[in-house]
Amino acid sequence: MDFCSLIRGTAPARSTRPAADRPPRSRSARFAPRLWQQNVGLTAPPLIVRILCRTRVTDAIHSRIDTGPNCRRLTPPMLHKPNPAPAPPLSNLLVRAATASDLDLIRTLLEGDGLPASDLEAVRPGFLLACAGTQIAGAGALERYGEAALLRSLVVAAAWRGHGLGHRLVKSLERQARAAGVRTLVLLTQTAQEFFARLDYQVIAREQTPAALRSSSEFRSLCPASAICMAKSLR
Ligand SMILES: CC(C)(COP(=O)(O)OP(=O)(O)OC[C@H]1O[C@@H](n2cnc3c(N)ncnc32)[C@H](O)[C@@H]1OP(=O)(O)O)[C@@H](O)C(=O)NCCC(=O)NCCS
Repeated sequence: MDFCSLIRGTAPARSTRPAADRPPRSRSARFAPRLWQQNVGLTAPPLIVRILCRTRVTDAIHSRIDTGPNCRRLTPPMLHKPNPAPAPPLSNLLVRAATASDLDLIRTLLEGDGLPASDLEAVRPGFLLACAGTQIAGAGALERYGEAALLRSLVVAAAWRGHGLGHRLVKSLERQARAAGVRTLVLLTQTAQEFFARLDYQVIAREQTPAALRSSSEFRSLCPASAICMAKSLR
């Protein structure tokens, strides 16, 4: 079946001239009206161009021809590069301290990413939450040990990742820690060493951390020995 038949579901218009008088019909004549006229000796039916413009089959061809004002410009799927997902409006997020009623949602978020949450009720670290209405988009906490604090439980919900929320939460926690007189932030991570390195956290030996901090449940039992210890001076 040729192209016209494919588009219209009918046989193509035929010339009344004898076959011998007809110029040879080129492939492009079937698509371009002027070429059609020169090659076939017929006035191309104006309808065909409009059909070409509206037919999915012809999307690729349509991108190369002038479609006229009545035609919708369709982007051929094979040439179309999908837009990246629009960044969520981080400015609409409310960053606030967590309350006891947030605990269940925080636990769900942490456990969903395999982060320790079994000690939250006992230790009650100070959480900062980034909230979108009733949903929690991200969380992070400080656990104070004298002049040092453990930065822990940093998590961003999957839908919000890659838009700067993780960095923003760390910066907010740092500001809060600095304001409270904390001089060093320490963390343990198995998965995000590079992420924290870009925020100026440096790898240190666990033994270099204050003894009080090493007595925390994260250090003692919740984070495996293979977790990387990192620290940042807030001065
Ligand atoms: C780590 C995490 C908090 C980052 O949150 P985020 O909002 O996506 O981070 P941001 O948007 O601020 O930063 C994105 C940048 O960090 C990088 N990044 C994100 N997660 C990373 C990771 N686990 N390791 C290394 N780099 C990471 C991204 O590649 C991106 O880099 P780019 O700017 O060059 O593209 C988030 O991925 C997460 O919740 N992960 C699961 C829980 C986790 O591992 N928490 C750390 C516990 S210590």
